[in-house]
Amino acid sequence: MKITAYSCRPDELALFKQFGEKYGVDLELVPEGPGMENADRASGSQGISIITTPVNRALLEYWKTLGIKIVSSRTVGYEHVDAEAAAELGIAVANVSYTPHTVAEYTVMTMLMAVRKMKTIMNRYLGQDYSLLDIRGRELGRMTVGVVGTGKIGEMVIRILQGFGCRILAYDLYPKKELEGMAQYVPLKELLGQADLITFHTPATEETYHMVNQDTLSLMKDGVVLINMARGSIMDTDALIEALEKGKVGAAALDVVENEGKIYYRDFKYTPVGHHQMAILSAMPNVLMTPHTAFFTDEAVSDMIEYSILSCIAQIKGEDNPWRVK
Ligand code: COI
Repeated sequence: MKITAYSCRPDELALFKQFGEKYGVDLELVPEGPGMENADRASGSQGISIITTPVNRALLEYWKTLGIKIVSSRTVGYEHVDAEAAAELGIAVANVSYTPHTVAEYTVMTMLMAVRKMKTIMNRYLGQDYSLLDIRGRELGRMTVGVVGTGKIGEMVIRILQGFGCRILAYDLYPKKELEGMAQYVPLKELLGQADLITFHTPATEETYHMVNQDTLSLMKDGVVLINMARGSIMDTDALIEALEKGKVGAAALDVVENEGKIYYRDFKYTPVGHHQMAILSAMPNVLMTPHTAFFTDEAVSDMIEYSILSCIAQIKGEDNPWRVK
């Protein structure tokens, strides 16, 4: 059995070798993302593993002619795959569900960094400015935290927050019984109006597109802190910038931003980035930006690779595939 894995980073190679040997799979490892120019690297394979590069109908149609049975994204989000086209072609689409601790811990870290003004403190320290001007923070334990989306990651955020003593409001279309006593589920409008800090853990769908917009921002408390470790598309970036400029939003931590696709995971040290909203946001002292690294731990990368391989094997063998989404 052979699987072609695209977008293989150097830090993934040893893990691909380890799990390829463990599960007896031949692997074709391609450093670049998939496109028509390298689609034939999948010749002889029955499964494809990808990360976040878009996979469109044309590519799927070509892979179909090669006998590909599954496209497995070794990520939680899979909005970059044309799942409708895949379904029409009879190619399975799968994601992976790696340890939720990785993004949840990063979320709580950035919550604390945002409320303790850590970006300013660290930048000042580099310039040997040890003054206390404008860096007084707030205690997370005294705040009302809103968690929008209580899937695996949102749930883990709520569990980790238990030790801080904050009041937690939650919103999800499918409330979880097991979170009873840890968080209070409320309607979204109520959460937006009552929370001092709001963290979003929703997938990128038509329903969540720009769920943070001028209207929803106007419902929030003045000085609200916003955390987005999920997907850039859930926030209307221009509306967010305006709200930060007016002080409606007091601080933000953004591991994701709209249209980050061709930018993050590349080195732009000597090249103009050309993303004006990113330039505005990253220049703000109260906006902490990171390049979609909340997932990036030894444990998560190992899970991503192992589960993507297992998912391909299950699909190719015609067995039950727990990661199949379409
Ligand atoms: C996901 O797994 O959905 C992520 O956001 C991480 C990925 C971009 C590597």
